[in-house]
Amino acid sequence: MKTAIHLLVGLLLTAAAVQAQDIPWGEHLKGTGSYDDFEKPDRCASCHKDFARQFEQAMMSQAYTHSWDEIEYFKLAVPHGKKDPKFDPVQEGCNGCHTPMAFIADDVPPPKPFTGSRADESVSCDVCHTITGSGEETPYNFSFMIEPGRTKYGNREGVESPHHITKKSAFTTSPDLCASCHNEKSPFDVWVKSTHLEWEEGPYSKEGQRCQDCHMPAAKGRNSIMSKERDDVAQHLFTGAHSPARLAGAVELSVHPDVREVVPGEQIKITVVCFNHKAGHKIPSGSVEERQLWLTVRAYDSEGKEYHLPVDKKGFEGEEYTISSNELAFQDMGFMMDKPDFKGLPRDALPYEGDRVFRMAYFDPQGRMTIAQWNTASLGTDYRIGPRETKIETYTWSLPADMPLGRVRIVADMQYRRLIKSVGEYLGVPDEEMKAEFINHAESYFEAVDY
Ligand code: HEC
Ligand code: HEC
Ligand code: HEC
Ligand code: HEC
Ligand code: HEC
Repeated sequence: MKTAIHLLVGLLLTAAAVQAQDIPWGEHLKGTGSYDDFEKPDRCASCHKDFARQFEQAMMSQAYTHSWDEIEYFKLAVPHGKKDPKFDPVQEGCNGCHTPMAFIADDVPPPKPFTGSRADESVSCDVCHTITGSGEETPYNFSFMIEPGRTKYGNREGVESPHHITKKSAFTTSPDLCASCHNEKSPFDVWVKSTHLEWEEGPYSKEGQRCQDCHMPAAKGRNSIMSKERDDVAQHLFTGAHSPARLAGAVELSVHPDVREVVPGEQIKITVVCFNHKAGHKIPSGSVEERQLWLTVRAYDSEGKEYHLPVDKKGFEGEEYTISSNELAFQDMGFMMDKPDFKGLPRDALPYEGDRVFRMAYFDPQGRMTIAQWNTASLGTDYRIGPRETKIETYTWSLPADMPLGRVRIVADMQYRRLIKSVGEYLGVPDEEMKAEFINHAESYFEAVDY
């Protein structure tokens, strides 16, 4: 009965979409065209040389070929779709964002990366520059409308090209373009990516600072080999979580003790202030299920002995998921990989337990933590750092009675990891993906004194 209603609603929706506009969007894009409708990036590169060299280094040009994407798609998502039909359209939909041409050509799952298929082109120049709008008012789940052809949509009025027609498009210059792939809802109707929603709620949207202004900064130069020089050419860098320079300093840190002199055996409270002054959305954003942003606080006594300080608990609901621990998690991978005996993997696999992790946990339908955003039925407490938000962490420490006297250094380090180490190692993802990236560092001190 339920299926029949779904089918009926689905048919009605399809009919409505087709009637409302001839241009399909979202899941209706599947099978509406072919690879040949799109030009290859090499063609664009012949004139837009500098942009081509920039964009080759951006993750979007590798959204299908990049090793971790390949592994998650072929080892988890595709087998999951085979085992449970509910997830078959979901594994097809990955391509709607990661390699839109393959989805449009109904070449799903696409051939493996680097086997000569045009799916490798991922989110290419011609994809972005032929997107004309969105079928959803708040775009998400590849709800873009796309009209490949001679007209390329850009940000300027009246520019001429020997190769194509150019049109200025308000959609191209709007964060809505980004939203169609940077907002995602799981089949359980849970927002599992919300970079654009976070931006929209935050201060930057109110000030008119777009995604493009930070991720495609304007600089003096030429946008093609035959254009004139301009003051504000949109650089095609799109640096994000894979760029140490983008991450560095994203959160400002400072640390201070509540007193400058303490007698060993007594207590001191250390405070760390964490200010997100660089990102237009929360940190981490996007693939939140697999990103870790964590704060380690250590002290060194006058003889150089190290003390790791666990964070003070604040007592909010779900806090246990924001403090590093090695209890087992990610058991849903066992079902996907057909390994019924799979017990799970250490949840955080960080150097210390007891550190604050700024995150929002994703839970599968059985309530276990998951890294499969498509298998997410509920979310934990959102303990990420919002745009221009400041979070304060404290560390109450009873000094050992036999601690040597003299200056004690306090050191706070914030680091970021793209993919939880235990998961990456288990699935054979290259070490590079699990590398700890440096965000920021701060120091202070107090004196251990005699009465
Ligand atoms: C034969 C050279 C040539 C080729 C090939 C070419 N372009 Fe262009 N393109 C130009 C020139 C010239 C301009 C106008 C530059 C100007 O004056 O700002 C332009 C402008 C644009 C603009 C508009 C920029 C704006 O300011 O609004 C976009 C978008 C664009 N090209 C995308 C593409 C894409 C995508 C491809 C490949 C599918 C491509 N171009 C291939 C030469 C070329
Ligand atoms: C057609 C879908 C699509 C559109 C449109 C799109 N993106 Fe992306 N973007 C992706 C995908 C998929 C990835 C992930 C690439 C990967 O596999 O690591 C990504 C990655 C990124 C990253 C790199 C993140 C990292 O982990 O390093 C940045 C930054 C980014 N996009 C910014 C933007 C901005 C800004 C816009 C709008 C101007 C935009 N994107 C439009 C699909 C899209
Ligand atoms: C004020 C500048 C600013 C604005 C505006 C901004 N970003 Fe970012 N973005 C950053 C910084 C800094 C980072 C690195 C810190 C981080 O990973 O969150 C980042 C990271 C990202 C990442 C990687 C996130 C992760 O942790 O994996 C993506 C994807 C991204 N931005 C997309 C967008 C999109 C889409 C928009 C618009 C809706 C946008 N950004 C608006 C500054 C900005
Ligand atoms: C993720 C989407 C996306 C991809 C992929 C992309 N662009 Fe763009 N491009 C944009 C956006 C957005 C703008 C307008 C920036 C703005 O509004 O500040 C733009 C602007 C341009 C411009 C005009 C720049 C200017 O300021 O004069 C040219 C030319 C261009 N793109 C060509 C290309 C070429 C060539 C490629 C492939 C190498 C490419 N684009 C890939 C989104 C994209
Ligand atoms: C609505 C668009 C969308 C859909 C659908 C989607 N993704 Fe993504 N995916 C993205 C974007 C955007 C990013 C980059 C976010 C960031 O950097 O934080 C991303 C990032 C990833 C990453 C991490 C890449 C990295 O370099 O760290 C993996 C792996 C991934 N996606 C796999 C999948 C799989 C598998 C599916 C299908 C089950 C899927 N995605 C469906 C848009 C999408």
